[in-house]
Amino acid sequence: MVNANDNRYVEVQGLVKWFGNDRAVDDISFSIPRGKFLTLLGPSGCGKTTTLMSIAGLHTIDAGSIRVGGVVYTSKAEGLFLPPEKRDIGMVFQSYAIWPHMTVAQNVAYPLEIRKVARAEIDERVAAVLRLVGLADMADKLATQLSGGQQQRTALARAIVSKPRLLLFDEPLSNLDLKLREQMRVELKRIQHEVGITSIYVTHDQAEALVMSDEIIVMSKGRIQQKGGPHQIYARPVNAYVSNFIGVANLLKGRVVEVTAPGRGAVEIEEGGRSIRLPCRLADGIGPGADAVVSIRPENVRARRENGDGRALEGEVIQAIFLGNCVDCRVRWGEYEWKVLAHPRDRLREGEKVYLRLDPEHTLAVLP
Ligand SMILES: Nc1ncnc2c1ncn2[C@@H]1O[C@H](COP(=O)(O)OP(=O)(O)OP(=O)(O)O)[C@@H](O)[C@H]1O
Ligand SMILES: [Mg+2]
Repeated sequence: MVNANDNRYVEVQGLVKWFGNDRAVDDISFSIPRGKFLTLLGPSGCGKTTTLMSIAGLHTIDAGSIRVGGVVYTSKAEGLFLPPEKRDIGMVFQSYAIWPHMTVAQNVAYPLEIRKVARAEIDERVAAVLRLVGLADMADKLATQLSGGQQQRTALARAIVSKPRLLLFDEPLSNLDLKLREQMRVELKRIQHEVGITSIYVTHDQAEALVMSDEIIVMSKGRIQQKGGPHQIYARPVNAYVSNFIGVANLLKGRVVEVTAPGRGAVEIEEGGRSIRLPCRLADGIGPGADAVVSIRPENVRARRENGDGRALEGEVIQAIFLGNCVDCRVRWGEYEWKVLAHPRDRLREGEKVYLRLDPEHTLAVLP
C-alpha cells in the first residue's frame, strides 16, 4: 500500500551527480504530484539525461535522495540504493529499443511475461494497450516492418503495459520528422493522461515542453532556473535566461527605480543618451535599486503610425516579414532592435517610422 502524499508523489531532494570534475547535476530538488506530466527542459549538456538516469537507478548519485510513491529509490544520507529492476519504471528513449525479431504484440507482452502474468490476461492487456496507442491492426507485424512513429508507439505501449509507478521519456520524438513529431506530442500527452501514470519527460525543444507538460523545469548547467506551468514559464519568467530560452523576448538592461505595489513598479533603461522610465511588473526577488533585465514578448509590443499621447517609443521598421497571420518585424530604436509581431492589418512597411507602445502588464523586470 502506497502512503505517499499525492502532491509529492515524486520527490527529488538535493540531487548531485559528479562526472570526474564536472558537476553534471548540481543540487536540484523538485516534486511531482501523482499522475502529472513534468518536463525537464534545457540545452544540450545541462543535466537532463543524468537526472533521469539517476531516477531510473542507472547512475549512482553523489548526494541527495529520490522517493517515488512512498518508496525510497535512493538516499545518500541513509545509504540506500534500490536496484533499477525494483524501481518499477517504464522508459521510452530516442532510439526505439524494440526487439526486431519479435512482433509488435510480443514486444509489448514482454514486460508482463517477465512478471509471470497469466497468458489470458497478457493477451487482454496487450490488446487494450495497442488500441490505446493506435496499433491494434499492427499486432502481428514484425517490429522492423514499422515506421519510426509506429516503432515509438510500440515502445510506449511496452513502457505502459505493466502500469509502472513512473514513466521516463528521454527525447522520444527527436528521431521523427517535424510533422509526425507535432502529431505525436498531442497523442503521447493524451495517452499519458488516459493511463494517468506520473511522467518525467526530457527535451530541449521548448515547443514540445509547452504543448505536453503540466509543469516544466527549465535547467541550465545542472541547476534549476525555474519550475512552473507552461503559461507561467512563458508569461512570468524569473530571469533573462528563462525568458530567452522559452520563446522570443526583447531584453533590455535596466534598473528598478520605483516599487508601487507588491510585484509592480518601474524600471529605467538608457538608450541613446536618454533615460526612459517603463512601468512594469517585477519578478520575485527584484527590489528597489536592483539591476534588472526588462523582458517583453514581441506579441506584446504594439506598433502604430501615430504617437497618440506622445509617450510611445519612436523607431523605424527595418524588416517586415509577412507570415500570413502576423508580420514579423524588426524596429530600430537607437542602438536597439525591437522584435515586434504586428497584425497584418497594420500593414507596416520597411523604412517606415513607427511608434512602439508597451503594456505595463506585459513588461517584466526579471533577474539578469
Ligand atoms: N557517462 C558520463 N561520463 C562523463 N560525463 C558525462 C556522462 N554523462 C553525462 N556526462 C556529462 O554530464 C553533463 C550533463 O550531461 P547530460 O547527458 O545529462 O545532458 P543532457 O541535458 O541530457 O544533454 P543532451 O540534450 O545533449 O542530451 C555533460 O557535461 C556531459 O558531458
Ligand atoms: Mg540527454
